[in-house]
Parts: sequence; C-alpha cells; structure tokens
Amino acid sequence: MSILYGKDILRTDTLSDKELELILSTAARFESELGAKGRLDNMAGQVMATLFFEPSTRTRLSFESAMLRLGGGVITVADPKTSSAAKGESLADTARTVAGYADVIVMRHPQKGSAQEAADAVEVPVINAGDGAGQHPTQALLDVYTIQKEKGSLEGLTVTLAGDLKHGRTVHSLVYLLVRFGVRFLFVSPPSLAMPAQITADLRKTGANVSESTDLAAAMRESDIAYMTRIQRERFADPAEYERLKGSYVIDMAMVRQAKPGVVILHPLPRVDEIATQVDAYEGAAYFRQTANGVFIRMALLALVTGRD
Ligand code: CP
Repeated sequence: MSILYGKDILRTDTLSDKELELILSTAARFESELGAKGRLDNMAGQVMATLFFEPSTRTRLSFESAMLRLGGGVITVADPKTSSAAKGESLADTARTVAGYADVIVMRHPQKGSAQEAADAVEVPVINAGDGAGQHPTQALLDVYTIQKEKGSLEGLTVTLAGDLKHGRTVHSLVYLLVRFGVRFLFVSPPSLAMPAQITADLRKTGANVSESTDLAAAMRESDIAYMTRIQRERFADPAEYERLKGSYVIDMAMVRQAKPGVVILHPLPRVDEIATQVDAYEGAAYFRQTANGVFIRMALLALVTGRD
C-alpha cells in the first residue's frame, strides 16, 4: 500500500516531500495511461461522496470526472440547501452518515477548519476541497503539477502571487509546496489584502526569499510565473471595502509585453476581471491547461488514499 493509504488530505504544510513526489508521479502516470486507454478501472466498486457547502465548478466536477475516469461511482451534495445541514445537522453527524455510503469524502465548506472537523469524525479518508479562507490543498498540488509541465522544473523560479492574498486559500496552500523548490516569492496585493503574517513568517523561517509590494507590473518584469487570484467578494464583511478594492489588479497584453519573456500566467479560476480575455491567446496563458490538470492530480489523490493506485 502507498504511504498515503487511508490518509486525509487536509493541508499542504503537513504533506511530506515523499508524499508530494508520489502524488505528482502518480498524476503523471494516470495522465499517460488515460491518454493511452481512455478510461481506467482502479476505483471499480468504490464510491466517492462530494459534499459541497460552497459553490464550485472546477473542483467538484474535476473530482467527479477523476472518479468516473477511474471506473468508480459518485454521490454528491452540490447545493447545501438540499442536504440535512439545512435542518441544522452538525458537520460531524453529516460526515458520519456519509461515511456509511462512501469510501472517500471530498468536502468544501465555508468554515476554516471544517475539513479537519469532518476528518476527526470518520474513518474513511477526507479530502479538503477548500475550507473557507483556510486551505485548498488539491488546487495547490495541481498548480505545482502545472508549473512542472509548463517550465520543466520549479527549481529557482521567481513566482509572483497577486491579488487577494489574505483570503485566497489557493495561495495559502501553494506557498508551502513552492518553498520546497527554492522559489523566490514576490507577493503583490493591496496592503489590506496582504498574505497572512504567519504564512510569510513560516516561509522566511525556512530561508525563503520573500518580497511584498503593490506593483504588479514591476513584479512581472522579474517573474517566471505570475499567479493571479480573484478579490474574494464573499469573504468581505464590508461590501464597500470590496467595491473599493475590486479591479485593483488587471493583467492585460500591455503588461504581458513588458513582462519577463516567457512568463507563464496562472489563475485558479474563476476569474472576474483580473486577467483581460485578450490575454487568453498568449501562449503562456496556462490557466485553462491548469484547470484540466486538476483531473490527473485528483485521480492520483483518490487512488492513493484508497489504496487503488
Ligand atoms: N479553483 C477552484 O477552486 O475553482 P472552483 O471554485 O470552481 O471549484
């Protein structure tokens, strides 16, 4: 059995280097096997439950696509209003119930720490598909997989992370993976949406080179990767503050032309207006390739935690 058999995938900072390597290599193997065979049967007879208490297009559907492509079955709650959580059932009771129906649970929830709470209540593996402004580990894994494919290697790259770094769970997870490859970090955000101080301190403690600024164009002139994020309206207590900050940063072709040649542009999506659609035709605009890579990473995770790799 793999070193990930029976494990929960809740955050990236607790993944070992060996586990990370195994996930990336298993995803590459599945990508290649899927290309050759079209469909695999590793998960035949297994059931995945997706419990989504927050909206999603990519994460839920790519998990479901991953499970179907591995020959498994899917049960889903895509709208919390249709589950008994709407009647006041606790998260632990919901998780315990669903664990009786499924071999693995994939959950998204608005509350930070909710994935851990569900995992503590059940024996089956729980995969965190986003817990509020906490973490989104499977997105970070597919981001690393994408950078590896786009650039060949992550070693020594300069990576700009821009936008809403305070609330962005994708960047909170991603930095704990990137730091292992010796990347140089440029954090670009409005001052009130800066990366949480604890995360920046964690990175600096490892010796990482971390700079913070508000100037996206300047950062892009030095960057191999520009990772853009959405200003997250749903996390603002004050709608006026969101209105003030939305549209703070927009990557357009004028900015790309001034950027470091070959810069790869990533975004976890959905985008609102932070990357102009004219940029989609730029060959380094990798965000739709990035989202497609989610299927291979999620195939790897499902198979590894259930021992079907
Ligand atoms: N990147 C991401 O988590 O997208 P969804 O919200 O559509 O799942």
